[in-house]
Amino acid sequence: MKVVTILGSPRKNGSSSTLAKQFNETAIAKGATVKTYNLNTMDFRGCQGCMVCKTKQDECVLKDDLTQALKDIHEADILALSSPIYYHSITAQMKAFLDRTYSFLNPDFFNRTDPSRLPAGKKSLLILTQAAPESSHSKVAEEFNYFLNFYGFKENETIRVCGWAGDNEADLIAENIPRVEEVADKFIK
Ligand SMILES: Cc1cc2nc3c(=O)[nH]c(=O)nc-3n(C[C@H](O)[C@H](O)[C@H](O)COP(=O)(O)O)c2cc1C
Repeated sequence: MKVVTILGSPRKNGSSSTLAKQFNETAIAKGATVKTYNLNTMDFRGCQGCMVCKTKQDECVLKDDLTQALKDIHEADILALSSPIYYHSITAQMKAFLDRTYSFLNPDFFNRTDPSRLPAGKKSLLILTQAAPESSHSKVAEEFNYFLNFYGFKENETIRVCGWAGDNEADLIAENIPRVEEVADKFIK
């Protein structure tokens, strides 16, 4: 099993990144291979809207640090994504990554039964952390998972960690480690 993990927080040891790394550890212990990309330390641009991936080739024309990550996702069985909520959404880093996945879509994707260039049946885990209570920002996960479904992912798990307040970070991480381990156990038999 191949896992690609995308970290969307600028805080490399923050709550979302730590939980994603714990998912990786469990996956490795179960025999998976894992590649992790920390978006905040990578040199890449957002989608340029050039439409080359719809008119001339089936890959993104940009060549930067995200190029290999996008290739690895094609090959992966599991995609793990983590991001804090910033301004009611994912971080800018994660949004720029998401926009670049536009190259995963075939031309005329809205009108065809096979919109995605990705092999079907991948699994995903989305980890989102936020300060607000659970009743806030639930649409962010729904919308992210909408795109993963559109890309042909078949099993999409979400872990939302709510009530982050800085001084409770260690407790929030400890409370949620069993949840990420459970998803790894479920995904990797
Ligand atoms: C620029 C910024 C914007 C934020 N906006 C929100 C927000 O809209 N809603 C919310 O619940 N928390 C918000 N937060 C709190 C973050 O979600 C919280 O710091 C985060 O969950 C920490 O995640 P990390 O440890 O993975 O970096 C914001 C934090 C920052 C720095």
